[in-house]
Amino acid sequence: MIPSELNNLLNEYQQTHLLFGFENLSHEEQHNFANELKKVDFAGLQKLYAKRDEVAATIDTSTIQPIEMESPKNLAYATKDLGETALRNGEVAVLLVAGGQGSRLGFEKPKGMFPIGPASNKTLFQIHAEKVLALGKKYGKSLPFLIMTSPATHDDTVKYFESVNYFGLNHAEVRFFQQGTMPALDLATGQVLLEAPGKLFLSPNGHGGTLTALATSGLLQEMANRGIRDFFYFQVDNPLVTIADPWFLGRHRELDSEVSSRAIAKAFAEEKMGVLANIAGRCGIVEYSDMPKELQQERDSAGNLVHRAGSPAIHLFSLSFLQRLIGKQDGLPFHLAKKKVACLDANGKRIEPQKENALKFEMFIFDALPQADRWLVLEAERASEFAPVKNATGLDSPETSKQALSNLAATWIESVGGKVTRNEKGDVPFALEISPLVALEAADLAGKLDTNQAIESTRYFE
Ligand code: UTP
Repeated sequence: MIPSELNNLLNEYQQTHLLFGFENLSHEEQHNFANELKKVDFAGLQKLYAKRDEVAATIDTSTIQPIEMESPKNLAYATKDLGETALRNGEVAVLLVAGGQGSRLGFEKPKGMFPIGPASNKTLFQIHAEKVLALGKKYGKSLPFLIMTSPATHDDTVKYFESVNYFGLNHAEVRFFQQGTMPALDLATGQVLLEAPGKLFLSPNGHGGTLTALATSGLLQEMANRGIRDFFYFQVDNPLVTIADPWFLGRHRELDSEVSSRAIAKAFAEEKMGVLANIAGRCGIVEYSDMPKELQQERDSAGNLVHRAGSPAIHLFSLSFLQRLIGKQDGLPFHLAKKKVACLDANGKRIEPQKENALKFEMFIFDALPQADRWLVLEAERASEFAPVKNATGLDSPETSKQALSNLAATWIESVGGKVTRNEKGDVPFALEISPLVALEAADLAGKLDTNQAIESTRYFE
């Protein structure tokens, strides 16, 4: 029996198709589904649906200026000391977002479980976890490791960490929290899609969902109580990231910055990378698809791209900034994407669409940036900071990421006097890898290597 209150609600929003197969559900399933439906914000979804054909408001190019980027080369050792003090005092939490579905990579498990170590075959999660472990050892204070999952990745991720005993991290410091989800809508009608009878088609609400999820999980408050002042944010698919780099942290502290971001010089004008820019006097990120072509191509007198501050999605957020943002009524906006989604059609028949049939909604973390009153953009070398695994082949694939890891290991070895064979392109033609437990930065290698012998074949330093 369908509760009349629910029937009225679904009638009001022309969503009665959601009751397809309801009578065949068990009592418990009916009860749970009815409760879930009552919580859906149908009015809000209707408003989002109305925007489906709005072309992203053309950005007023006159408001976009290049962002001022600081170079790490100009930083003093006193700055690094500040960052190291923050780590020694236990004031930094590591925040990893790992709720995405990794559809471009096409890996059946959470992307963090993808093996990426060129010589060790370690997974992305293991490399990140060992960096967090090594940081805690180096500075004598363990760091909370907050991992955001989604319903799509949660169970596998938690089981994986349990099965490997948290890679040696203190269990209590590894905290999983789930991001929210959003229903998908039928592109043609605006009706909420069903995945199966009694089951809405839901997808993760984007990495911007981190902010609300941190608050609702109670972790933000807990971190405040234990004296955390900053969150180091990064994404699961980049094995090169320098987690909680003390230089970056130190400069962030020196400026009392609310949000600090690393920037990588774009490789070419059309590179599909968000660009950090000064937008109407605030720090923000212009998505590559929204960047007007003339700005994308613009070059200065030296021939460099004017808007070259590519974003590798590495940020520091101050706790007070996050508290202020989360307290605000109007959270981050939703971005709309038209996608192909296998679901039930209006008659309850399962369909595998050939073209986009659904509207999905995601929030992006970078929409938080313009809210900061004080910010920092610190440049980083791509070769030592950014080699994401996005696609199965080609650009930003496991192949390019593994090569970048091998090349970086060589650069570190060479910086302490070692020799590594490279090919004519400058790449290391075999797998070379240094465990984060051996070195977190090149200087940590000093005295640990036999520098007399050139490295000519696969090696793994652990
Ligand atoms: P991407 O935007 O690259 O998405 O996520 P993705 O899901 O990993 O891959 P595709 O687009 O389906 O191929 C960048 C980072 O944001 C996280 C991802 O896990 C990744 O670390 N993310 C993304 C979330 O945590 N939640 C989301 O809802 C979306």
